Amino acid sequence: MASSDAVVLVLGLVLASLYLFRDQLFSSSIKPKTTTPPVKEANGHGNPRDFVAKMVAGKKRLVIFYGSQTGTAEEYAIRIAKEAKSKFGLASLVCDPEEYDFDNLDQIPDDCAAIFVMATYGEGEPTDNAVQLMQNLSDESFEFSKGEHKLDGLKYVIFGLGNRTYEHYNVISKQVDEHLTKMGAARIGLRGEGDDDKSMEEDYLEWKDGMWDAFARVMNVEEGQGGDTADFAVSEIEDSLPAEKVYRGELSARALTRSKGIHDAKNPYAAPISVSRELFQNTHTRNCVHVELNIEGSGITYQHGDHVGVWPSNPDLEVERLLCALGLSEKRDTVIGIESLDPALAKVPFPVPTTYATVLRHYIDISAVAGRQILGVLAKFGPTPSAEAYLRNLNTHKEEYHVAVAEGCLKLGELLQLAAGDDIRATPTTANTTAWKIPFDIIVSSIPRLQPRFYSISSSPKLNPNSIHVTCVVLKYDSAGSQIPPRSIFGVGSNFLLNLKYAASGETPLISADTGSNGTLFPSYAIEGPRGAHHEGSIYKVPVHVRRSTFRLPTNPKSPIIMIGPGTGVAPFRGFVQERVALARRSIEKNGPDALNDWGNIYLFYGCRRSSEDFLYREEWPEYVSELQGKFTLRSAFSREPPYKPDGGKIYVQDLIWQDRTQVADAILNGKGYVYICGDAKNMAKSVEETLARILGEAKGGSAEVEGAAEMKQLKERSRLMLDVWS
Ligand SMILES: Cc1cc2nc3c(=O)[nH]c(=O)nc-3n(C[C@H](O)[C@H](O)[C@H](O)COP(=O)(O)OP(=O)(O)OC[C@H]3O[C@@H](n4cnc5c(N)ncnc54)[C@H](O)[C@@H]3O)c2cc1C
Ligand SMILES: NC(=O)c1ccc[n+]([C@@H]2O[C@H](COP(=O)([O-])OP(=O)(O)OC[C@H]3O[C@@H](n4cnc5c(N)ncnc54)[C@H](OP(=O)(O)O)[C@@H]3O)[C@@H](O)[C@H]2O)c1
Ligand SMILES: Cc1cc2nc3c(=O)[nH]c(=O)nc-3n(C[C@H](O)[C@H](O)[C@H](O)COP(=O)(O)O)c2cc1C
Ligand SMILES: *[C@@H]1O[C@H](CO)[C@@H](O)[C@H](O)[C@H]1NC(C)=O
Ligand SMILES: *[C@@H]1O[C@H](CO)[C@@H](O)[C@H](O)[C@H]1NC(C)=O
Ligand SMILES: *[C@@H]1O[C@H](CO)[C@@H](O)[C@H](O)[C@H]1NC(C)=O
Repeated sequence: MASSDAVVLVLGLVLASLYLFRDQLFSSSIKPKTTTPPVKEANGHGNPRDFVAKMVAGKKRLVIFYGSQTGTAEEYAIRIAKEAKSKFGLASLVCDPEEYDFDNLDQIPDDCAAIFVMATYGEGEPTDNAVQLMQNLSDESFEFSKGEHKLDGLKYVIFGLGNRTYEHYNVISKQVDEHLTKMGAARIGLRGEGDDDKSMEEDYLEWKDGMWDAFARVMNVEEGQGGDTADFAVSEIEDSLPAEKVYRGELSARALTRSKGIHDAKNPYAAPISVSRELFQNTHTRNCVHVELNIEGSGITYQHGDHVGVWPSNPDLEVERLLCALGLSEKRDTVIGIESLDPALAKVPFPVPTTYATVLRHYIDISAVAGRQILGVLAKFGPTPSAEAYLRNLNTHKEEYHVAVAEGCLKLGELLQLAAGDDIRATPTTANTTAWKIPFDIIVSSIPRLQPRFYSISSSPKLNPNSIHVTCVVLKYDSAGSQIPPRSIFGVGSNFLLNLKYAASGETPLISADTGSNGTLFPSYAIEGPRGAHHEGSIYKVPVHVRRSTFRLPTNPKSPIIMIGPGTGVAPFRGFVQERVALARRSIEKNGPDALNDWGNIYLFYGCRRSSEDFLYREEWPEYVSELQGKFTLRSAFSREPPYKPDGGKIYVQDLIWQDRTQVADAILNGKGYVYICGDAKNMAKSVEETLARILGEAKGGSAEVEGAAEMKQLKERSRLMLDVWS
């Protein structure tokens, strides 16, 4: 893209991008402007066809040329650039060779490399955009200042694209390789060759690992080390923009302008919470919230088994902490514009213009445990040598990082405070938090976007056409690690929902119950949303979107169903059972009271700790049993109350399945039944699968490992065994 290196962000550009946003769903790629004031090239003065100057100006150690006709080679060039960035923190200049001159190919700095990604056409001809490059490389009289070994010292990588059914397979990449070698340049790794007809992707994958290994050695770079090149230019916008043009946490242009449109992941719907309640009884240490989202009039539809994405914001404390640690507390509401310096490689990950505080609260994930790589990037901004050394040490020592940061669950803001010697327990203020002078563009490029949290929808649209139900267990656990005493860690999305539940139901949190161990404060959030848009009277709203899944019941009710969902894993099965209840009502209305006689059995294996405590929807199941006229059986395992196993061990869902193995095997093998597992991926789902394999293996007169495993494989292939699990 011609203007991809524009570095000077002028107000005009911001206004132009606003214009683009006006009628476009949120998209951060800002197209090259023709209407804006002239934009200076990255090299400031020189010749726009001088790629070496651009590399130097943009601190880019790689230049990637693609010879591409229909875009495949260009795609691979961009992929290579992204991998170089994520692996080694190296920035690339991705170039259409047509737009550059090659007479200074010999002037690429020593710590840099050139990468060629070249397709072959016709009778072994270059793509149109590589004609000049090929001419220059093959031209014997092509003179570089170095004379004899013209390209001594140039390091290059080459990947060719071709199609083996052509006679002149991949000849262009071979020619480029030969010319460069002849002129004294040194290839890094092997020459890659991709066959578009069969195996381009595999050819690429097979080639790239060896190439990157060689690359790391030759370039003297190490994986996991972030670089220091900017992906973005951040500018503070002094001139006052109309307030309604500035994003304050809105997730899309439509949300900002409050205009109608389709609701999806790009434009979440602020759904009013119509019902919210606590599902656990007699427990002051754990919460599980049931939330009903009103989707009436939104155009959103869903099916049983779908997921709903909930878009949380970061808790107040972490927003405040990072604002102070970045020295941005006073500038929190300053409007900023952000421009990608290379839109092909890095898109501005959230809508702009916005403010510092908005970015930290709504758009980036500041609540996750700080990654090791970012510590290396940020170390050099340490306010003191000891703060710098503190981060460097954690960045380079995996073990220490693991104990202190990963196990200690330290967020970025906390880590900056600790490194500077601040007290992380204190309420952060500018007076007592050391400010780091970290350029904001580095924050934008090194902290990922705040992601939606997904929940298995726990209702059926047949019983609840206007609402989506969520069953969310609230995540709270204690940190480990030896450096600082354990603290309560609160999951971002689930505590956001808990906050909303307190507000929507008019309760105030029970401070004693909801204070974490060691007095850690229960997190609070700006649940009223951007400009208060998520709060009207007593109604609170939450941005959501629906993600389709394939976790579905068979259409024919004659097929038996076995559902296994302990804990919150029961969520989608409440939807499944409601789906069958709706069908039963209709069938009985149409065909009379015997309509369910030929239905298959519906088994639900549920497990929780205690029948009196965390038994989810305990009051609803008997109603479903009666409406489904005995076709529905709920089996529950209460792990922390009697009965226990003879050896005192806990009884889990898999133990109940084993007890019922005759019926289970019959339903699956003879009834062509369907099996569904939902919930914890790490332990539960594995144990349940093992138990099922054992049951099926034995029923087939063989073993779990052979006949059982084969049966399980076949069930999965036929979509008769489906999983909806998470860890
Ligand atoms: C397809 C799908 C369906 C889901 N359905 C449901 C559902 O129906 N109901 C439901 O409640 N949840 C469901 N989840 C989980 C849900 O999406 C969230 O992950 C969950 O609510 C926690 O999010 P959070 O933002 O509160 O926690 P986060 O702030 O995202 O923290 C979660 C992270 O904390 C860490 N962590 C968690 N526990 C510990 C621990 N004990 N020790 C150390 N670190 C820990 C892990 O790294 C974990 O990734 C589902 C997930 C998926 C992928
Ligand atoms: N990674 C893990 O180790 C793990 C384990 C459970 C849940 N989770 C996750 O934690 C979140 C909250 O879960 P939740 O509160 O809904 O569930 P939960 O209450 O923690 O667990 C529900 C029931 O499952 C039991 N259980 C524990 N381990 C099991 C296993 N290996 N096989 C079968 N049953 C088992 C529990 O028993 P006891 O607690 O009495 O042992 C409890 O009775 C979920 O996201 C889930 O994925 C993770
Ligand atoms: C008209 C045509 C001619 C081609 N000629 C050759 C050829 O001679 N040798 C070869 O290896 N591949 C040949 N290919 C395959 C392309 O190089 C291959 O599809 C490549 O992935 C295209 O990359 P691009 O999308 O970047 O242009 C040809 C493809 C087309 C469409
Ligand atoms: C490279 O090739 C182009 C097109 O043939 C030509 O105009 C240009 O002068 C060549 N450059 C050099 C340095 O020879
Ligand atoms: C490869 O070339 C053959 C012969 O021209 C053609 O049929 C085939 O579609 C090509 N493959 C791709 C992926 O373009
Ligand atoms: C920092 O300042 C706040 C507000 O003045 C105060 O509540 C907190 O205790 C102070 N912390 C320290 C370590 O001084």
